[in-house]
Amino acid sequence: MNGKFPQDFLWGGAVAANQVEGAYLTDGKGLSTSDLQPQGIFGAITPRKPGDSGIKDVAIDFYHRYPQDIALFAEMGFKCLRTSIAWARIFPQGDEETPNEAGLAFYDRLFDEMAKYGIQPLITLSHYEMPYGLTQKYGGWGSRATIGFFERYARTVFERYKHKVKHWLTFNEINMSLHAPFTGVGLPEDSDRGAIYQAIHHQLVASAKAVKACHQLVPGGKIGNMLLGGILYPLSCRPEDLLETQRQNRDWLFFGDVQARGAYPAYMRRFFREHGIQLEITAEDRQALRETIDFISFSYYMSGCVTTDAAQNRTARANILNMVPNPHLASSEWGWQIDPVGLRYLLNLLYDRYQKPLFIVENGLGAKDRVEADGSIDDGYRIEYLNDHLVQVAEAIDDGVEVMGYTSWGPIDLVSASKAEMSKRYGFIYVDRDDAGNGSLERKRKKSFYWYRDVIHSNGNCLKPKG
Ligand code: BG6
Repeated sequence: MNGKFPQDFLWGGAVAANQVEGAYLTDGKGLSTSDLQPQGIFGAITPRKPGDSGIKDVAIDFYHRYPQDIALFAEMGFKCLRTSIAWARIFPQGDEETPNEAGLAFYDRLFDEMAKYGIQPLITLSHYEMPYGLTQKYGGWGSRATIGFFERYARTVFERYKHKVKHWLTFNEINMSLHAPFTGVGLPEDSDRGAIYQAIHHQLVASAKAVKACHQLVPGGKIGNMLLGGILYPLSCRPEDLLETQRQNRDWLFFGDVQARGAYPAYMRRFFREHGIQLEITAEDRQALRETIDFISFSYYMSGCVTTDAAQNRTARANILNMVPNPHLASSEWGWQIDPVGLRYLLNLLYDRYQKPLFIVENGLGAKDRVEADGSIDDGYRIEYLNDHLVQVAEAIDDGVEVMGYTSWGPIDLVSASKAEMSKRYGFIYVDRDDAGNGSLERKRKKSFYWYRDVIHSNGNCLKPKG
């Protein structure tokens, strides 16, 4: 794989505040929606009472241990670390006039620590959480008022960190609100489709306003969106299957279309009409949406299939989406279908569609790791998964796709989003903590740690094409 990756390729890893930081009420932080989901985004929404505890309350204690963790990332040669700011650390209830200084100071310390090693931050403004206060008082993104609260938050952090953070993302996996409305837009899980799309509309306007604010406030700053890259293939070549696949892919590409092109795509008119959805979209909203992102970012873990044949329509839960399994692919221990070639296909599809630089900001294998008696962890399966995906990234670059970087998901073990498990591990670095919260939180290098270090040091030249 010689010479395929550009010299300035941003190699690194990605985490999210609510899955690593812990310290869930420290230094004035308010409750976030994630704190109400102790069992993960598919668990019940649990109002918190004094004495309640959840695994994310401590997570991997990144809030206190970040200097050690950043040093380990630096040892692997990271050029970039993606994390998020917990909105409720900055505006604990969401609607305050002034930010919480202690929350701001934490991220100053974190970014300064990264700067010591030349690691560039890539910062998500909202990764599966918002201040819980905004859902209680305003109904989350169901309310137009939330646009203004988000804009205030975005402007606050752009102004504060404009010399430290040059790469930003607005909403993590913005398309997932269709499947997990509380996590995505702070609405009850049983909300109807019209209410969800109205909340999504508010979020899209807020995203565009953040793009504008970033362009105004951050010198040389670049801001992208973030899509769950849930690519689907037709299970057969029946024309009906192909058409249905196009329709289902548009469910998520719609978000990218608005964010990258600056207006609702034509195909949504029919969709809204046939589903009896009438959105309130003002002239000012349309104007705001015209401010488009600088690059497209996305997560990629798996692909799935679509069929119109009822007899074959058995779905497997794949992260947030339900997908028909592809008979040509194997699955991870969690049933996610492994498809490295799909990543090359997706990169080409997104580049053809948007002609904007792409950033793969999540990709990885969740697996159960075993610590041997001598303390070593041989995660060859993870190396194979990542190698095979990166080989396809190199191929896509060779196809002419502009790829800015690659941040693998969970370079250090963290709490999984879907079910709040520690045992679903993605890391190059092992964290001694189990699903019940027992363990010393000690960090250990896995075999993949040394492998990823070599990949970065060789700028991808040591990757091995299959067979
Ligand atoms: C993405 C999310 O959907 O998938 C991450 O952006 C999440 O927050 C990742 O952790 C993997 O999912 P899970 O459920 O295995 O943690």
